[in-house]
Amino acid sequence: MNVMQPIDRIRGGVHEKERHESGHKHVTGTAEYIDDMPEPAGTLHAYLGLSERAHAEILSIDFDAVKSARGVIGILTAADIPGENDVSPAHRHDDPVFATTRVEFHGQPIFAVIAETRDEARRAAAKVKIDYKDLPHVTDVVEAAAANCPLVIDPLKLERGDIAAGFAKAKNVVEGEMRIGGQDHFYLEGHISFAIPGEDDEITVYCSTQHPSETQHMVGQVLGIPSNAVTINVRRLGGAFGGKETQANLFAAVAALAAKKYRCAVKIRPDRDDDMTATGKRHDFHVGYKIGFDDDGRIEAVDAVFSARCGFSADLSGPVTDRALFHADNCYFYPHVRLQSRPLKTNTVSNTAFRGFGGPQGMVGGERMIEEVAYALGKDPLEIRKLNFYGGEGRNLTPYHQTVEDNIIGRIIEELEISSNYAARREEVLAFNRKSRIIKRGIALTPVKFGISFTKTEYNQAGALVHVYSDGSIHLNHGGTEMGQGLYTKVAQVVADEFQVDLDRIKVTATTTGKVPNTSATAASSGSDLNGMAAANAAQQIKARLVKFAAERWGVSEYDVAFEPNTVRVGVERIAFSEFIKLAYGSRIQLSAAGFYKTPKIHWNRSEGRGRPFFYYAYGASCSEVSVDTLTGEYQVDRADVLHDVGKSLNPALDIGQVEGAFVQGMGWLTTEELWWDAKGRLRTYAPSTYKIPLASDRPRIFNVRLAEWSVNREETIRRSKAVGEPPFMLPISVLEAISMAAASVAEYRMAPRIDAPATPERVLLAVERLRRAAKNG
Ligand code: MTE
Ligand code: HPA
Ligand code: MOS
Repeated sequence: MNVMQPIDRIRGGVHEKERHESGHKHVTGTAEYIDDMPEPAGTLHAYLGLSERAHAEILSIDFDAVKSARGVIGILTAADIPGENDVSPAHRHDDPVFATTRVEFHGQPIFAVIAETRDEARRAAAKVKIDYKDLPHVTDVVEAAAANCPLVIDPLKLERGDIAAGFAKAKNVVEGEMRIGGQDHFYLEGHISFAIPGEDDEITVYCSTQHPSETQHMVGQVLGIPSNAVTINVRRLGGAFGGKETQANLFAAVAALAAKKYRCAVKIRPDRDDDMTATGKRHDFHVGYKIGFDDDGRIEAVDAVFSARCGFSADLSGPVTDRALFHADNCYFYPHVRLQSRPLKTNTVSNTAFRGFGGPQGMVGGERMIEEVAYALGKDPLEIRKLNFYGGEGRNLTPYHQTVEDNIIGRIIEELEISSNYAARREEVLAFNRKSRIIKRGIALTPVKFGISFTKTEYNQAGALVHVYSDGSIHLNHGGTEMGQGLYTKVAQVVADEFQVDLDRIKVTATTTGKVPNTSATAASSGSDLNGMAAANAAQQIKARLVKFAAERWGVSEYDVAFEPNTVRVGVERIAFSEFIKLAYGSRIQLSAAGFYKTPKIHWNRSEGRGRPFFYYAYGASCSEVSVDTLTGEYQVDRADVLHDVGKSLNPALDIGQVEGAFVQGMGWLTTEELWWDAKGRLRTYAPSTYKIPLASDRPRIFNVRLAEWSVNREETIRRSKAVGEPPFMLPISVLEAISMAAASVAEYRMAPRIDAPATPERVLLAVERLRRAAKNG
């Protein structure tokens, strides 16, 4: 047979460094967000009225001043809800839209004002007079544990081996504790929903949500209508980071309620300070640990309890605290282990998903234990790490009984050690610290292993809808949402690659519950794994029909039909793709398909604490160096080197962007971002004036980010890629540890500094002083 070489390559296929499909629109301000949409005439605006008590009975509410305020159309309370007053994603009926007789946190929504303008609604809401009877409140996680506060959901226990025997055998045992702070998502676009009523029971909501299907069900539940009457549309979110996995539901429900009641379009968008006060954040944790190890630093046994401030309701706290336990081992084999979660109820906003989903807190706890071993033995923490990595006979079983089969951490660490020149630089840092009195340096190299899949098995499914129009242009829709991470671009690249057409022939259209049903949250980093596969499946269905058509029409074998760059080859003939599609349409070939995918191999039994919750792991490592001013506790990150594993990258440009962004966001979490509640249970860090996210000037002075280009996912993921959204968030644990080393230098590295996260300058200074005192006295 005549073997013909493809004449060309398509533009924007998989593995190409393609720009984000909206990148140019983001930077020119032409990307349309919900607040940019033209408003239909008569659009009304809703604003929430929030609780001013952390825990109280509501005795009475006086709405007189609200009602008479300018522009006010009406007020919504729980009494206006025709369906259920609940938006609880855990289906525990513990997340009311509006509080009724009792408030459980400062900032809890009690009512909404509907007015002609947003400003009028906001001003009117502040005029309410509420009589409260205060009840005792607990906001802090340690206090909640001490007070035996209830749990919001059953705890998880992971156990393997015999910890009593492990500790008995261990020559050294260290016990300690650590606090790990929470984090506000600080998405650029805050929460927003815009509802437009339809005929009969129908309603359409434009919502900045990561989980359109759940938002759809919640709106239906609150309005008392079936899901088929509700359509949720999401073109893009201006950042989400987990903060819009469940927290958007309330805003969608309020907008929909008002739209139905007043029969007009209604928009709701809280101010930044109310958004920060009234919506959930990353869980802060307290970790209590006991670790047994031999004189080389080899771990024998680990016993740890991870307590989390969950807030007043369950929300996603069950799976979040589970994921914390799943990552407490990070890359290390624990021969004997017991890990327990304590998801504590507190009188604070209900905490929720945030990049890493509890994994980062678990991993920080695990890495703190490594540090303890290193300082106890006077060794380089990297040496302890390498000694305890998974690998070797009988050393591959996780605390949840999943075998680590794809371990590449050894190679990642080896390459990063060389490229970052770790050993020589550590010697330099030690030498510098011997001479420098005030400024102290630290350097650390830390690994990451992150499990990919939703631990809730049913979430690991996705759908897509692909239409090829008769002009040869392609319409792509899938269940994932675009929040800046580049999902739409990657899935379009997959479809371009399937049909072998240029990327600009494909239009990715806004995510909508009307096109792809029963989708999962775009979360757990699995967006491109799941939706990429579903879209490929849809494209393959259409291609199979086209191949059959071509074989019949031209009288060749199906093997002689091939999709080549922008052409279809049938035998020796080449037909331009659009020409070919026109012919297929003329022969009445169905040019549309719904694709589907479900992740294979995974299963999880929570009550036994056993299974294979993860399809595979993503790996990475980073080496960070910092300088600390020991008179003030201030520091800067002088250099960070990253080597990160994304398998065979679908789009290296987007992946590098994800790694860099996650590093800086994770660094902010571990260094400067501090949430602080006062004695009355009020969050006082609710604005950028008091809550410090990293600035461009805070990024590492030297920042070398590389992908492990040799990595290929051993599992059959979409084009052998790996998820990238969350894993790199944990890379900057090396920043925390480098700060720790700089502090430890004032006491000759003989004591673990035990700096809590975030390592604010204040905490660093306190640690330095504590260590100096201890060194003097000891
Ligand atoms: N990147 C940007 N720019 N904006 C975001 O909101 N969210 C992160 C990550 N990267 C986020 C982001 C989180 S929490 C997750 S789970 C993943 O993206 C979700 O998208 P993916 O599954 O398509 O990677
Ligand atoms: N990650 C993110 N979101 C989730 C998960 C998870 O594992 N499970 C349920 N929602
Ligand atoms: Mo990401 S926390 O799973 O939305």
